[in-house]
Amino acid sequence: MTKSKPSLTFQPVLDRIAAEIGEMPGRGRPAAYIPALAACDPDRFGMAVAEPDGTVYGVGDWRQPFSAQSITKVFTLALDLAREGDALWEHVGREPSGNPFNSLVQLEYENGIPRNPFINAGALVVTDRLQTQTGDAAEALIAFLRAESGNDQLSINEAVAASESAHGDRNAALGHFMASYGNIGNPVPVLLNQYFRQCSVEASCADLALATGFLARRGIRADGTRLLSGSQAKQVNAIMLTCGTYDAAGEFAYRVGLPGKSGVGGGIIAVVPGHCTLCVWSPGLDERGNSVSGVAALDRFTTLTGLSVF
Ligand code: DON
Repeated sequence: MTKSKPSLTFQPVLDRIAAEIGEMPGRGRPAAYIPALAACDPDRFGMAVAEPDGTVYGVGDWRQPFSAQSITKVFTLALDLAREGDALWEHVGREPSGNPFNSLVQLEYENGIPRNPFINAGALVVTDRLQTQTGDAAEALIAFLRAESGNDQLSINEAVAASESAHGDRNAALGHFMASYGNIGNPVPVLLNQYFRQCSVEASCADLALATGFLARRGIRADGTRLLSGSQAKQVNAIMLTCGTYDAAGEFAYRVGLPGKSGVGGGIIAVVPGHCTLCVWSPGLDERGNSVSGVAALDRFTTLTGLSVF
């Protein structure tokens, strides 16, 4: 028996959003603090929607690989949670920080325990723990993304990783500072190397929408095996909603109404639990590091479809 598809297709919605974004004035500026990202063309735009069964719809540059950056923090969190469960939460919190993603200020008041896994300090803790669990956190991440997306070509851009490393003083400061509180288990240079490589993964909107699918399937991977419990998948979605877009998480929830995670490469992933996952890419950022066209496109998606968690 062949599986029949629902009559609703996302393609007309995506086509309409792309046309509207094309007319939109002001696209922000690509991240300037890493030279390898600064060269991106802010006019690029792509968007993909993946259904839980793996059907993908896309528009614009949806098959173009881009620098996933902080979007990878969702996957390392899930991979570590799958391995060590709630023990992780002794080392990183679950509250929005209200501060920029690379801020240091709260760490001293809060004894080296970062506010959440999606600011850089928290992501460094997660990567450190995943490194301890796997022996190669970046490789575990790549293997997961390849398996979920079905794209064996998905890889790390070593030039971007080198650029991250050359301009990584703030992340180094965060790593050493947390190590002084005993909250980092690996040598800091090892951790930083893993973290910079993780940030430098290149994937397309199609790849990342598919790889996020487990969060729409209550923790089930593309091959039908379980990565997270339903409860853990809910928890990751909740942290994305409250912390996934840094000090703009409130505005993102207000405008888009979905769990989402942005990266300074200009990508944003989002989840409609039970329905679909999305990834949008456009390199021009606002002052908080979120893609201007990306947020606008997701805003239009939830408005046009009525798909939101609220
Ligand atoms: O840690 C950094 O500086 C970057 N490689 C990752 C930052 C990032 O994407 C944060 N987000 N918006």
